[in-house]
Amino acid sequence: MSTSRLSDLASRVVHWQRVHGRHDLPWQTHRDPYRIWLSEIMLQQTQVSTVVGYYSRFLGRFPTIQTLAAASLDDVMPYWAGLGYYSRARNLHRCARAIVNDYGGCFPRDPATLATLPGIGPSTAAAIASLTWGVRSPIMDGNVKRVFTRYFGVDTAINLRQTEKTLWKLAEDAVEAADTTLDMRAYTQGLMDLGATVCTRTRPDCAHCPLGNTCYAKQHQRQQELPVRAPRRTKPQRHCHMLVLQHQDQILLEQQPSPGIWGGLWSLPKFDNQQALDQSLADMGAVDGNKEENGAEKSGPLQAQPALPDINHVFTHFRLHIQTAHYIAAGTVCDVEPGPTQRWVALETLSQTALPAPVKTLLEEVAQRQARLVAADNDECS
Ligand code: ADE
Repeated sequence: MSTSRLSDLASRVVHWQRVHGRHDLPWQTHRDPYRIWLSEIMLQQTQVSTVVGYYSRFLGRFPTIQTLAAASLDDVMPYWAGLGYYSRARNLHRCARAIVNDYGGCFPRDPATLATLPGIGPSTAAAIASLTWGVRSPIMDGNVKRVFTRYFGVDTAINLRQTEKTLWKLAEDAVEAADTTLDMRAYTQGLMDLGATVCTRTRPDCAHCPLGNTCYAKQHQRQQELPVRAPRRTKPQRHCHMLVLQHQDQILLEQQPSPGIWGGLWSLPKFDNQQALDQSLADMGAVDGNKEENGAEKSGPLQAQPALPDINHVFTHFRLHIQTAHYIAAGTVCDVEPGPTQRWVALETLSQTALPAPVKTLLEEVAQRQARLVAADNDECS
C-alpha cells in the first residue's frame, strides 16, 4: 500500500472530523479515562442513542472509579439492566476493582497493558488511550472495518482471521504513515463518526465522504458488497415457560447464575416445558389437578390469571420464545417460601431492580393489571 494513500487517509479523516464529526457527545466533555472507558464499554455493542441515558444514570450513581470499585455487583447491575450483553457489566466491575487495587486507581496509558484488563480488547484499549491521552494507537471496531474494507477494497470475508490481520495491519500502517503531528483524538473519533454517519451499512453517503474520490468501493460501485459477510447461520429457536407468581403487590424473582446470559440479573422462575411448570405449581398447591367431584376447579391458594403475552427475544446465538403464566397467591399470608436464589420484590421497586428487557416488559404488564385490579376494588368500595 502506498505511503501517500495511507497518510492521506489519516489527514482527510482528521480534517473531516473537525468540521463534520461529533463533538458534543457526553463522553467528549472531559478527558477523564474513567468516563471514556465507561463510554467505550457501553458503546461496544450498543448504539450512541441508547447509551446516552444509561451513561448519565451510571455516572450519577458511580461518579469515580473508586465509587464503582467499592460497590457490589448487585448495586451495579440495575444500572446496566436493559443494555444487554451483561458480561460487559461484570467485567466493568472487575476492571474497576483491578484498577483501584493493582494500579492505585489510575488507568495505565499503555494500550497493551489496558488490553490485559477485564472487558478491554485491543480496539477498546486503543480507543481509550488515543481519545484520553492522544496515544498513537489504531482502533479496529465494526464501523472502522466497514470504512477500511471499502476504502482499501478488502474483499475476503470479514470474520476470517486473515482478514482481521490484514485490517489491523492497514490500521497500523495508516497511523505510522501519518504526520508526527497527527491529532489522534480527532483521527480515532473521526473514523468512528465516519463509519456511523457516512460510511453506513445500507446507504453510504459517498457524496459527503472525505475519502470518496479515492475509495475502492466507490470507484468500483461495490459499496453494497463490502464488507463481505460470512453467510448468516439461522439462529436456533428455544422455548421456555416463565412464572409470574404474585402475592399482593409482590413478585417472586430469581437471581440468575453468573456467568450466564443474564448472570447477576433478577428474572422470573423459568421452566423448560409446561410439564415442569405444572409440577412446580402443583408443589406450591395451585388449583391445577385439584378438582371438585363435579369437575369444577376448587379455589386453591394460587389463582390462575389470563396468560401474559408471549415474547420473542433475540440473543446473539439463539432466539427465545417465552410463554408466561400468571398466578396470584390469595390471602394475607403466602406460604410459598422463596428458594435460596429467590426473593419477593414489590412491583413499585422494580425500576430499581436489574431485570432483563423481556422480563421488564412482562412485569410492566403485570403492574398495569394490578393497577386495574386496585382501581376496580376502589370503585366497588365507593
Ligand atoms: N463507538 C465506539 N466508541 C465511540 C465513540 N467514542 N463515539 C461514538 N461512537 C463510538
